[in-house]
Amino acid sequence: MKAAIHRRYGPPEVLRIEEVPMPPVGRRHVRVRVHATTVTSGDARLRAARTPAIFALPIRLAFGLRGPRQPIPGMEFAGEVEAVGADVTRFRPGQAVFGITTRGANAEYLSVRDDAAIVPKPPGLTHAEAAAAPFGALAALVFLRDVARLVPGERVLVVGAAGGVGVFAVQLAKHLGAHVTGLCSAENAALVRDLGADAVIDRRAGPDGATPGGYDILLDTIGVTRFAAWRPALAPRGRHLFLSFGLGELVQMMLTSLGQGPRVLCGFAANDPGKLACVADMLAAGLLRPVIGARYRLDEIAEAHRHVDSGGKRGSAVVSIIDPR
Ligand SMILES: NC(=O)c1ccc[n+]([C@@H]2O[C@H](COP(=O)([O-])OP(=O)(O)OC[C@H]3O[C@@H](n4cnc5c(N)ncnc54)[C@H](OP(=O)(O)O)[C@@H]3O)[C@@H](O)[C@H]2O)c1
Repeated sequence: MKAAIHRRYGPPEVLRIEEVPMPPVGRRHVRVRVHATTVTSGDARLRAARTPAIFALPIRLAFGLRGPRQPIPGMEFAGEVEAVGADVTRFRPGQAVFGITTRGANAEYLSVRDDAAIVPKPPGLTHAEAAAAPFGALAALVFLRDVARLVPGERVLVVGAAGGVGVFAVQLAKHLGAHVTGLCSAENAALVRDLGADAVIDRRAGPDGATPGGYDILLDTIGVTRFAAWRPALAPRGRHLFLSFGLGELVQMMLTSLGQGPRVLCGFAANDPGKLACVADMLAAGLLRPVIGARYRLDEIAEAHRHVDSGGKRGSAVVSIIDPR
């Protein structure tokens, strides 16, 4: 099969398309003929081994010291079950599925365990749309519902509202009953409003554009805000959430947990099959809509990574493997 490959960490140019053996199907494994996959900000960071200093060693220990142990990148996928292992009962060949894994999705075939984050694809979605959902939607779900414990009526500010996570955070916060403000560039204001934001702040205004004390939750999806600068924008018991964080935010999380004022919260969204099923239900019901900002073929994988590295990605960058553009 054809797959994107990189055997060392580095710029997008480390990526190649190679012919590699098909992934094996273990007794509990499902092999998917991938129709569409994506390049997420997470894929681009891992390709470059670009992490906050505090995570540099743990990431290399987990993924490979000098280069990635699994050389095929890619987390998100959608496609058709091609083969199942002897002990698999939840899936059958021919079934349309989508999901998220740690690596290996930027390929014609992918093998994952049947208890991994893989669920039936809602029939109303194309493979490209389904592949564009898990990374951003799971992060939005975990951070807004589980970490921030958003309650209806709260005021939410989403920073990076037009990005891969942001487009889902805006929609989910609206669905959970919040008043939503998106912070983005002027070019993306119409998109963010279209996703349901009640208000939009031009990112060039920074904290000066925010209403003092105006937000119960500040969800920074891209790690461009600082607690000290944005604290005046938070309500007295507001929560400042960081998806991308370093040692400074971890220390602030500890310190603010001891006081009575606004809090800093950091965390990770795991690839949880139950939560992905919840995302699938919301996609099927039309409560969440994937945003595809750019499309590539598998042989354009390096170009897709360059686009993600540029910081100007809107929604998701989809790599179509079978689907026509
Ligand atoms: N902790 C976790 O479990 C977890 C889970 C998922 C993702 N993440 C992390 O979350 C981060 C965001 O991912 P993503 O996929 O949403 O990113 P992304 O799609 O690459 O974000 C791109 C967006 O960021 C906006 N942007 C760029 N620079 C900005 C700035 N200075 N101020 C405001 N907005 C800016 C751009 O929109 P405008 O041009 O409109 O500003 C662009 O639309 C990544 O670092 C990822 O690793 C963490």
